[in-house]
Amino acid sequence: MAVPLVKTSVSVLRSGSFLRSATISHFVARSLCAVTCPSNTLCWNCAKSQFQPQKSNLLSKSALLRRNWNCVSIGTKKMSDFTGKGKDYIFRQLLDYKSFTYTYLLADPVSKEAVLIDPVYELVERDLNLVKALGLDLKFAINTHVHADHITGTGDIKKRVPSCKSVITEVSGASADVKTKDGTKLEFGKFSLEVARTPGHTNGCCTYVWREKGMAFTGDTLLIRGCGRTDFQEGDAATLYESVHTKIFTLPPDFSLYPAHDYTGQTVTTVAEEKAFNPRLTKSKEAFVEIMGNLNLPYPKQIDRALPANLVCGVFDEPPK
Ligand SMILES: [Fe+2]
Repeated sequence: MAVPLVKTSVSVLRSGSFLRSATISHFVARSLCAVTCPSNTLCWNCAKSQFQPQKSNLLSKSALLRRNWNCVSIGTKKMSDFTGKGKDYIFRQLLDYKSFTYTYLLADPVSKEAVLIDPVYELVERDLNLVKALGLDLKFAINTHVHADHITGTGDIKKRVPSCKSVITEVSGASADVKTKDGTKLEFGKFSLEVARTPGHTNGCCTYVWREKGMAFTGDTLLIRGCGRTDFQEGDAATLYESVHTKIFTLPPDFSLYPAHDYTGQTVTTVAEEKAFNPRLTKSKEAFVEIMGNLNLPYPKQIDRALPANLVCGVFDEPPK
């Protein structure tokens, strides 16, 4: 490596004129650092880490990443490249093939604060690997309700990320670090998720509304062209109908709706679509109640295992068999 050039660079850096200097080869500078900077001009924090090798060697890559938004964690990509073109937020929809549960990762890429909605116990490793890869700080692990078809991942997440808080509605009766009410706002970075109570599938169900981005996460209250069953766990068809019509169908028509499950391969819908095409919820309340009362669905396979675990937000030493 061109040692004389580095010595020159250090002296220029100390003189405070580094950023104006055209004598430094950015490629030489990049090759000296554990992380690389994709920009054509070297930022101050990158420069410090590159010309203080003893100090930078003590820091992990993720620690270096947190020091500067423009630094890079993978190859030559900036963190901002991970958001997607023209986006100021991170959004990922993740699927559990076993229970057909969707888990959602939302984040503010500037502050790096993130939330996970409805994580699944068996897939915590996958979810946390993604959080780590994107350099995010997981602030909340959230459940839309006490699930009956899978064990929540929030308990395991709290063990692995002690700073992360579990969240569920107060009326659900489940334990959590944060118990929400109708209207509670969960802030992450410059964004917030608003809690809208939508009981009916269970008494503690809620929808999380991300107004800044025109999205709502409906849990099992509203599914794409369907809805959650109402024949167990305090289920009540008339209540679910009211919840959908007063809390979800009153959102702007172009809001995207993301359910907790889909069994047909669909991933997203909108308020306008469901108001037009939902085969159950476009009916009258009386007709809806009759439909729900005649579904004759089988007893949920996982319910006896999942409910006790989920009432303590999945906190256990060994998962129930
Ligand atoms: Fe459910």
